[in-house]
Amino acid sequence: MIRKAIVPMAGLGTRLYPVGVVLPKGLMPFVLADGKLTTGLQLIAETLLRAGIEQIGIVVSPENRPVYEAFLEGGGERYAPARAKRPEMQRIYESLRTLRGHLNFIEQPELLGLGHAVWCARSFACGEPTLVFLGDHIPLPLGDPTPIQQVAQAYETVQCPVYGVHRVPRSKVSAYGILRGELTDAPRLYRLQRLYEKPTPDYAQQHLHTEGLPSDEFFAHSGIYAFPPALWETLDHIATQYDPASGEWTLTDAQQRLLKQMPAYLYEAESHWLDFGATHEYRHAFCYLAGCSDV
Ligand code: G1P
Repeated sequence: MIRKAIVPMAGLGTRLYPVGVVLPKGLMPFVLADGKLTTGLQLIAETLLRAGIEQIGIVVSPENRPVYEAFLEGGGERYAPARAKRPEMQRIYESLRTLRGHLNFIEQPELLGLGHAVWCARSFACGEPTLVFLGDHIPLPLGDPTPIQQVAQAYETVQCPVYGVHRVPRSKVSAYGILRGELTDAPRLYRLQRLYEKPTPDYAQQHLHTEGLPSDEFFAHSGIYAFPPALWETLDHIATQYDPASGEWTLTDAQQRLLKQMPAYLYEAESHWLDFGATHEYRHAFCYLAGCSDV
């Protein structure tokens, strides 16, 4: 059973500038159709907990850590008189306290890349199998079975890396990690053949196209990764060799190394994604969650 999840959220939030300077991305607010006020952090954490995750490591910048902590403390003593008068505030305060029991903040002192963000959480993971979930989108449906549950279940079956994927057109491959798979007997599950971080369209067409998909569609990472314990040794190894001058420390590098040691799989969940790390996408996510628009 995977008990731990890591959610990298340390980015500068440049696409939400200048709000992102003072409001960490994970605290971008949403109002649900029933009027409930929530945030990206809560929606992601609640979805992970529903999938059976017990402890969540949120990777944040040292600057944002106190902001997240203050949020989860729900105003402490300063708000106690107001909470005493308003039972709905007290209920929210208690739900934040429960959530806090599952969250661990981990600092990423320098933004060296996704692989580095995950490596920063190594003490939290303590060598266990771990789910990594990219912290700027919300997986839909919010109700069961969520794509997170599906990837975690696939991992239980194969006990090897399982990566959530979605289809992207050729024109968008250079924005993603692209993966080539081969269909297995299990529905929606592909055996990973090869992967490459942000390829050119030509490279993708030549080396990364999955048989059975339309010729101009490719599998891209959808932001859910289930890793076996071998991830940690692999990342430690990369850490000893990594030179920031050589560019970004990607997670794809670790995935490529793992693929040399063991099989890995892709899971194409039946889902949609709400990105909230950029203004247009945030507007779309807000309207959808508020019940004012379709996906
Ligand atoms: C990261 C990953 C990439 C993945 C993408 C999904 O890239 O490195 O493999 O496809 O997230 O959103 P980023 O968007 O951080 O550049």
